[in-house]
Amino acid sequence: ETLSASRATNQQRDTTMPSDIAVYGLGVMGRNIALNMADHGLTVSVFNRTASTTEDFVADLPPDSGIRASYDLADLAASLTRPRVVFLMAKAGQVVDRVIEGLLPHLEPGDLIIDGGNSHFRDSQRRYEDLRQRGVRFLGMGISGGEEGARHGPSIMPGGDPEAWPLVRGMFRDIAAKAEDGEPCCRWVGEGGAGHYVKMIHNGIEYGDMQLIAEAWQLMRSGLDMPAAEVAETFGHWNQGVLSSYLIEITAEILQVTEPDGSLRVDHIRDAAGQKGTGRWTAIDALELGVPLTLISEAVFARVLSSMKEERVAAAERLGGGTPTYQGDKALMLDAIHDALYAAKIISYTQGFLQMRMAAAEHGWQLAYGEIALLWRAGCIIRSRFLDDIKQAFDRDAGIPSLLFDDFFASALRSADKGWRDAVSLGVQAGIPLPAMAAALSFYDGYRSAVVPANLLQAQRDYFGAHSYERTDRDAGAHWHTRWTGDLGEESVDD
Ligand code: 6PG
Repeated sequence: ETLSASRATNQQRDTTMPSDIAVYGLGVMGRNIALNMADHGLTVSVFNRTASTTEDFVADLPPDSGIRASYDLADLAASLTRPRVVFLMAKAGQVVDRVIEGLLPHLEPGDLIIDGGNSHFRDSQRRYEDLRQRGVRFLGMGISGGEEGARHGPSIMPGGDPEAWPLVRGMFRDIAAKAEDGEPCCRWVGEGGAGHYVKMIHNGIEYGDMQLIAEAWQLMRSGLDMPAAEVAETFGHWNQGVLSSYLIEITAEILQVTEPDGSLRVDHIRDAAGQKGTGRWTAIDALELGVPLTLISEAVFARVLSSMKEERVAAAERLGGGTPTYQGDKALMLDAIHDALYAAKIISYTQGFLQMRMAAAEHGWQLAYGEIALLWRAGCIIRSRFLDDIKQAFDRDAGIPSLLFDDFFASALRSADKGWRDAVSLGVQAGIPLPAMAAALSFYDGYRSAVVPANLLQAQRDYFGAHSYERTDRDAGAHWHTRWTGDLGEESVDD
């Protein structure tokens, strides 16, 4: 938590000048965002509800750090240039509302509150509307990249009041991660809750990526009985190709960390995943919108099932299990696992972008999907080379119904098809759960099926509930009912 050399030594700061921005909340993210802002020449007032946290934070900073402590909200407000900008990093939920209510008596119309936490997009929509009534501007800003990102460059997804964004656009683009072409991973996303919505989709995709990697790991370890060192080396190798990404990179690192006895550190970690809730929100929103978000939803359920540790241990004893080792060509199957991971990743992002498209229609947002892909090229948890391919797909045709209508991705799936099915078959035969990888394959097969067995569902619904059905050989929109338990006659049910 030290200022970068470029700041700690140069340019004397005029400590009598008002601060450019306040950071409220000095947890891991808040502290590091404040340091990042100061690194970029901003004068930052910092405040934390627990004063000792503020004291500890500023105690180690050099006098010209550009960070100044406030210990009450009146002082915090007085320390800021006008219009005041207060950046919140507080726990999502009611805490944010309480903090806002505490701030309002010290703010004036035209001042700006920015919520940089993982707030639910509906909360951000509500806060934007409420505060607008009170003359205070609001931005709901998705920030991705964890501690490292906050300190040295996160991906930033701002939404809320479009008129407020220009006030702070420069400073947030300065502190954001930069893609290889130097472009900041920070651009306006949309009005109201759009910024936090896109962050939520980012987190849903993050869940999917993490689950897919875990499934590939288990296929290699349990399905192919690969030594740990070889698995780590494989992820490192895969990180050089189309799967190149932060999550693959850190997985290769994690799988090399050993204990003194040579065992893997990860094998001593309890196999029960936590979740703060953003992935779950994504799946709930998909159900509400009617989005077939199968992979990410399965990733959420996989976390839930993993948390049922005791029950799984008991079930394993009762139901047996075990994974017979694959007897075929392991090198070929390893390539197949790579292809399955890549193909399923394409499906996951396809579904994520499908959800954003449907949400945009629902909420009246104008989301720029290619630009959103650019936002995620650096700084965020799902950062990867893959996002450039998504950007290019939307550049070719911004109006494609889904990424699967883009030739690059359609061709990639055709090439991966056999390996994908072989890898899923390995899991099925070996009793290795592949909720994400297999769900992706079923989605793919369903999405490209001109005919699916939903006609039988319609007949069943009409049989027991007289819910009626349409016929393919009659006018679209006309509804019919069969007297299944009577004379089997058919009648129109339209008025
Ligand atoms: C990010 C991450 C972050 C996430 C935590 C915990 O973009 O920096 O997505 O926002 O909240 O990593 O997430 P879960 O507890 O939901 O796994």
